Amino acid sequence: MTRIAVVEGDGIGHEVIPVAQKALALLHPEYEFFSVDVGYGKWEETGCPCADRDLGALKTADAILFGAITTPPMKDYQSVVLRIRKSLDLYANLRPIRGDGFDIMIVRENTEGLYSGIEETTTARATTLRVVSRAGTERIVRTAIRLAKERDGLLTIGHKANVIKSDVFFRDICIAEAQAAGIEYNDRFIDALSLDILQHPKNYNVVVTTNMFGDILSDVAAYLVGGLGLVPSANIGDEYALFEPVHGSAPDIAGGNIANPIAAVRSAAMLLDHFGDAEGAARIDTAIRTLVARGICTRDLCGSYGTREFGDALITQLCKKT
Ligand code: NAI
Ligand code: MG
Repeated sequence: MTRIAVVEGDGIGHEVIPVAQKALALLHPEYEFFSVDVGYGKWEETGCPCADRDLGALKTADAILFGAITTPPMKDYQSVVLRIRKSLDLYANLRPIRGDGFDIMIVRENTEGLYSGIEETTTARATTLRVVSRAGTERIVRTAIRLAKERDGLLTIGHKANVIKSDVFFRDICIAEAQAAGIEYNDRFIDALSLDILQHPKNYNVVVTTNMFGDILSDVAAYLVGGLGLVPSANIGDEYALFEPVHGSAPDIAGGNIANPIAAVRSAAMLLDHFGDAEGAARIDTAIRTLVARGICTRDLCGSYGTREFGDALITQLCKKT
């Protein structure tokens, strides 16, 4: 029995995740789904955004389908997303950007870097410790190398080693690992890379980088494929796996039935791929492409479909055996 924990979270998570769950349930009627309520909404109701019991429940699942969680910029509010990523040690954040003539996989380190959570704020200054460990770097670059081998593609190491010492450390470990693995690689400064990936996406295949740079780079690269409503992600550790759209809870459009559910549905396809069902993942991908090519899409892609209406069209399309 495959058990999937479903976290809708906050904002548009409540709109896009049901579409993704329906697609999974259609392709795998044997999956068992159970919902776990965490997030800002839960904090407003109970004063606790994510209890130990919720983390415990997530750990019992074979995989987690996750929406997005609002992190208000309040001093004492701890990000739930970061807590989950750290407690489940989901160290590899894989963010595919696929379009006409390019197929890029951004491999973002997901547990340390500038998101270490080691921070201090006084009245005079605030500091955040950027942690780049050898073990953390080795495991993320080994994931990236494995993907580069599978995809028979170039590995690009994104860093800012011209300025930041912890990135000299990151770059050098990545280069040593790439050389030891005998794969083709290059390295780029992250700022120049962010423009070049938009201008020459075909020159990229697997890109490995630290936590914050990967976060920013993937939102930037989403421009290549039509925006944040389209880009999925997988958060993979040695024991647990969580699948979520790259976008956040989008409070500006939440509740309006206008969010694009494609990123969430593609995250569900990544979940299927993770379980070895490449055919199911491809069916989802084809159904999305077919609909979008016919102009059946949400407002962000210049369509007129609502989230629910697109979801219904997707399920109908998936039911067709073509
Ligand atoms: P966001 O990704 O939620 O939204 C950025 C812009 O993209 C907004 O204009 C939004 O309307 C649009 N957008 C996002 N997803 C869309 C979709 N599916 N369809 C159509 N348009 C879409 O990022 P923002 O505004 O910076 O953050 C909002 C909240 O989400 C914050 O509290 C932030 O902390 C949280 N967040 C949570 C994440 C997570 O749970 N993994 C990831 C990123 C942000
Ligand atoms: Mg982000």
